[in-house]
Amino acid sequence: MTTRKFWIFALVVVIFIGNMSYFYFNKIKVSTLMEFIQRSDQENSSETQAATVHPLTGMWTVGPSGRLGNLMGQYATLYALAKLNGHQAYITQNMHNQLSKIFKIKLPVINDEAVSRIKWRNYWLHDWMSPDYYIIQGEYVRFTGYPCSFTFYDHIRNEILEEFTFLDYVKEESYAYLDKVRGDQKNVTFVGIHVRRGDYVHVMPNTWKGVIADKGYLDKATDYFRKKYENPLFIVTSNGMAWCKENMNNSRGDIHFAGDGQEGSPGRDFALLAHCNHTIMTIGTFGVWAGYLVGGETIYLDKYVLPDSPFLKVFKYEATFLPEWIGIPADLSPLLGKKDGQ
Ligand SMILES: *[C@@H]1O[C@H](CO)[C@@H](O)[C@H](O)[C@H]1NC(C)=O
Ligand SMILES: *[C@@H]1O[C@H](CO)[C@@H](O)[C@H](O)[C@H]1NC(C)=O
Ligand SMILES: *[C@@H]1O[C@H](CO)[C@@H](O)[C@H](O)[C@H]1NC(C)=O
Ligand SMILES: *[C@@H]1O[C@H](CO)[C@@H](O)[C@H](O)[C@H]1NC(C)=O
Repeated sequence: MTTRKFWIFALVVVIFIGNMSYFYFNKIKVSTLMEFIQRSDQENSSETQAATVHPLTGMWTVGPSGRLGNLMGQYATLYALAKLNGHQAYITQNMHNQLSKIFKIKLPVINDEAVSRIKWRNYWLHDWMSPDYYIIQGEYVRFTGYPCSFTFYDHIRNEILEEFTFLDYVKEESYAYLDKVRGDQKNVTFVGIHVRRGDYVHVMPNTWKGVIADKGYLDKATDYFRKKYENPLFIVTSNGMAWCKENMNNSRGDIHFAGDGQEGSPGRDFALLAHCNHTIMTIGTFGVWAGYLVGGETIYLDKYVLPDSPFLKVFKYEATFLPEWIGIPADLSPLLGKKDGQ
């Protein structure tokens, strides 16, 4: 009963804030907003009850654009915002093709011809929840952007995790790999590591005044788990596996490079990470989603762009990494050195 009163109060407060200017909201920390959105307490929430009383109307959809991590962010954000606003979410054929390779996703698919005939209201989303998003108008709304923030969907975490349930064959493949790595070792703790490299090696310093994970970060993050767990085994996935093999200290033999150094298919790599017990991510939505699905301890690279980076206009650390995750600040000295040298 108190929970229900709390929710109604929260909704009133949120709508009130929504009517104030966007500028004002910018000053409110995302964590303040999150106090209104309680995790996994959705069963008897006013939101759920409202949806039961008023059937979902219209057709809301999203992009899609980007790769697996981005698509998952768009899917979950569409799911949450459509529900919050009382509309029916649909995904495009293209998004369905990508995500249904590995997940038992359930949102209905909208036909390509229908997509082209509907007069959409395109609605750009920034990468954190905001009061405006509780009161989006329109029966045919199409979201754009790259939302991937728990602030959109953490209040319905269980529903999102259910959407991202792996297909049985994917699960079996992952367990088979982990079993092979384990061999006859006892009491093993699996730590999935995602090392994002590829285009980001250049994009981070050149476009965003930022860095990607270096050897020092990966040493610290792996040592954290070595100290804490009896027998940790690290499963590395990366789109720069050669760099990982050269730079990760495997003198203990506890690091396993998934796919023998070949870049695996993203779906397979993602499933492997998701079946580990804990996560070390570097940057990027792929690692964020691995940590979110695993639900164990997650270590992330923190503060990896300079304070004046344009990246911080589209991205907020506190809206991306869960409060209980452990951040290790990046070494920004390569950027400062570069500036001095110019
Ligand atoms: C939700 O409310 C109904 C009736 O008020 C109650 O019977 C049910 O147990 C509640 N469910 C949860 C999960 O609290
Ligand atoms: C297994 O390892 C954990 C720490 O990783 C330890 O707390 C626990 O006691 C171990 N269990 C056994 C049976 O050795
Ligand atoms: C690798 O780790 C071992 C401890 O297992 C340490 O003795 C060695 O100095 C490390 N090597 C490098 C290059 O960091
Ligand atoms: C760790 O992950 C493995 C593989 O998914 C699983 O079999 C095991 O139950 C997990 N251990 C814990 C403590 O959750």
